[in-house]
Amino acid sequence: MKSSRFYGRRSFLLPSIFFILFLCALASINEIRFDNLLRFGRCSLSSILSNNTSHQSYTSPTQDQNSSSDDIRILIGILTLPDQYQRRHFLRMIYGTQSPVGAKIDLKFVFCNLTKEDQKVLVALEIMRYDDIMILDCKENMNKGKTYTFFSSLPELFNVSDGSGPYPPYHYVMKLDDDTYLRLGSFVDSLRPLPREDLYYGYVIPCSSMDPFVRYMSGMGYLVSWDIAEWIRESDIPKQHLEGPEDKVFGEWLKEGRRGKNRHNAKWSMYNYPDPPTRCTHELWPDTVAVHLLKNQEKWIRTLKYFNVTNGLKPSKLYHIP
Ligand SMILES: *[C@@H]1O[C@H](CO)[C@@H](O)[C@H](O)[C@H]1NC(C)=O
Ligand SMILES: *[C@@H]1O[C@H](CO)[C@@H](O)[C@H](O)[C@H]1NC(C)=O
Ligand SMILES: *[C@@H]1O[C@H](CO)[C@@H](O)[C@H](O)[C@H]1NC(C)=O
Ligand SMILES: *[C@@H]1O[C@H](CO)[C@@H](O)[C@H](O)[C@H]1NC(C)=O
Ligand SMILES: *[C@@H]1O[C@H](CO)[C@@H](O)[C@H](O)[C@H]1NC(C)=O
Ligand SMILES: *[C@@H]1O[C@H](CO)[C@@H](O)[C@H](O)[C@H]1NC(C)=O
Repeated sequence: MKSSRFYGRRSFLLPSIFFILFLCALASINEIRFDNLLRFGRCSLSSILSNNTSHQSYTSPTQDQNSSSDDIRILIGILTLPDQYQRRHFLRMIYGTQSPVGAKIDLKFVFCNLTKEDQKVLVALEIMRYDDIMILDCKENMNKGKTYTFFSSLPELFNVSDGSGPYPPYHYVMKLDDDTYLRLGSFVDSLRPLPREDLYYGYVIPCSSMDPFVRYMSGMGYLVSWDIAEWIRESDIPKQHLEGPEDKVFGEWLKEGRRGKNRHNAKWSMYNYPDPPTRCTHELWPDTVAVHLLKNQEKWIRTLKYFNVTNGLKPSKLYHIP
């Protein structure tokens, strides 16, 4: 009895300890500084248990201290579902271990009204811990206006007309899929030479085309400048046309409203995962901003390995990873 009870407890404890060590390892990939440790304060039990909600995720630690008015401010909304707890946990590691220079990137998980009792507790806890969730006033849907609700809510949610912050609050806002891997450094580099007004950036559909004006940008991840989010809020065009594949509908609003005069086709730095090959896929290669359709762990692992994401792991007596 005793030993089986011990075994039971140990089998819970060991994975937990390794998990905490794993988080520590990832956190330490970032340049270690005191404020880093506070911000990423995920390395001690006390902080994991703490109820301090003032941590703000994904404002890269390096950016805070060296932030300057030249920084590009970007809001990334990952549209996902309340019940995708594991996915959010995974993506927090993926984005929490990247620190692009010269940009302030805020990443939010975006969903509609909660519907279940357990979500009211679990999601609230997540918000207390990570503060990286936006719950919009809508009923969960993919192609019936969630994207509209997201973009059109932003001017009000980040209203700085009282002088509470710089204008625009973000130069760019992006919609990102939760099965897309975005490399923040390359992404920021690709944005630096681009206009900050009337911009529509992404992977142009159809896959065979390189003309950014031909149709629309793929839902894997597209970005617009802040003025376009404001236009979406104010214009009647999107309101009258909410249903349909969200990326296609988005492109049609801009076409009808003659918006997005500045366009950037990020193909082939954005692409679908190489396997199975189609006209939309590309081999993994160094010049990558985003890889899409990472539908299983094997695909994620191959991608993360290819981009050497764990190369910065600090050596320590506490672990050994072959
Ligand atoms: C949570 O934090 C508040 C202050 O922010 C404090 O008053 C409260 O006691 C804390 N609760 C727990 C369980 O630590
Ligand atoms: C919460 O954490 C911040 C730093 O992340 C710290 O400045 C603040 O004092 C903490 N608040 C509480 C109530 O512990
Ligand atoms: C931030 O600024 C400090 C001092 O100005 C400098 O040493 C450091 O390299 C800068 N970090 C980045 C990421 O630019
Ligand atoms: C979402 O929730 C809010 C607050 O609970 C409620 O006022 C609103 O009507 C809900 N919206 C939808 C579309 O269900
Ligand atoms: C922003 O706030 C100002 C003043 O409070 C208000 O007049 C304006 O309508 C708000 N803008 C949006 C988009 O909510
Ligand atoms: C990953 O690291 C290997 C070995 O250091 C190097 O040859 C390769 O170019 C790196 N890959 C990328 C995408 O940086």
